[in-house]
Amino acid sequence: MSDLFDGIHEFENLTRDAILDWLREDDETKLERLWHASNLVRRRFVGDDVHLRGLIEISNHCVRCCGYCGLRFENKKIERYRMSADEILACAHQALQMGYGTVVMQSGEDYGITRDWLTGIIRRIKKETPLAVTLSLGERSDEDFKAWREAGADRYLLRFETSDPDLYRFIHPSLPHRESDRMAILRSLRELGYEIGSGIMIGIPGQNYRSVAGDIESFRSLDLDMIGVGPYIPHPDTPLGMPDTPTALPDDEQVPHSEEMTYRVLAMTRLVCPEANIPSTTALATLNKASGRELGLQRGANIVMPNLTPSQYRVKYEIYPDKACINETAQCCHICLSGRIESISRSIGKGQGGRKRERIRKEPDMH
Ligand code: 5AD
Ligand code: FES
Repeated sequence: MSDLFDGIHEFENLTRDAILDWLREDDETKLERLWHASNLVRRRFVGDDVHLRGLIEISNHCVRCCGYCGLRFENKKIERYRMSADEILACAHQALQMGYGTVVMQSGEDYGITRDWLTGIIRRIKKETPLAVTLSLGERSDEDFKAWREAGADRYLLRFETSDPDLYRFIHPSLPHRESDRMAILRSLRELGYEIGSGIMIGIPGQNYRSVAGDIESFRSLDLDMIGVGPYIPHPDTPLGMPDTPTALPDDEQVPHSEEMTYRVLAMTRLVCPEANIPSTTALATLNKASGRELGLQRGANIVMPNLTPSQYRVKYEIYPDKACINETAQCCHICLSGRIESISRSIGKGQGGRKRERIRKEPDMH
């Protein structure tokens, strides 16, 4: 791959120490080199197309109590919903009409979504449309994953959130009799033939620089097809988001949950996983509504996920507060995102936009 890093050799095979230095770098001129390199590598490996994945938030029920998430079981302030099969199918048809190549069905860990019910929905989507189907439904059983794969599901998203084992356990209380092990689940999803996606939040209370550098190295070793990184946004109705939550770390060790830190992680993620599909996330757009999406796309990302969830449900899917697009319609998000992509001279990808495993033709250097 070395010719593909022509002119930017300092970014090839980044070591843990180099990653750490970039996370702590505050010289703007130097950071420009990082942004430039990540944009160049993104262009050389996955091109200028931005693929659109239509997001359907099918249920906000959840049995888990993750310390950061507004959908956690113990949050009694939200009204719970589960979309009907026909409502989900209508969203999938809307995705097709809007030219998207993929629908992503996302929910809390909701066992009201039964294996058979979802199998039926996946089959219908696959029969009635040419869409790729991505699932993001939490830590389900191998039997569920197998049935959904056989019904035609193509991809599964499950962020590990942090590779620090103590912090992971602290923020992800296990269910009784079942230890939470997302790395093991990602391996079985891969064996079942799914494209696999994972990722982290940046700036979780208690997350230090060394652990984020470790997260970025894990992306490389897991050979992920899709990687989502977004800033942690405190939710006041969660234990981690209460005002004055004591973080165990001194200020100079705690990674900030900032827009700027998100770009650094995004850029290095592209550099260590040049072929991965990487979204410019809604959480990032929440921190900078004016231009977060575009800056994400210019610092490594090649995917956006327009929200298709009907308005009456969308407002109830409050993972974190003040979420971008919470009061928009699917049509608004479609027009908005298409405009943003054009405004930075990128093109909208056609087809399913799955993981590319072969490098694309080398492009002339960008300046
Ligand atoms: N801030 C930012 N992102 C969050 N997520 C969950 N809670 C929050 C929060 N408070 C992210 C997690 C999850 C994804 C669906 O949303 O990374 O995997
Ligand atoms: Fe939803 Fe911009 S993406 S309004």
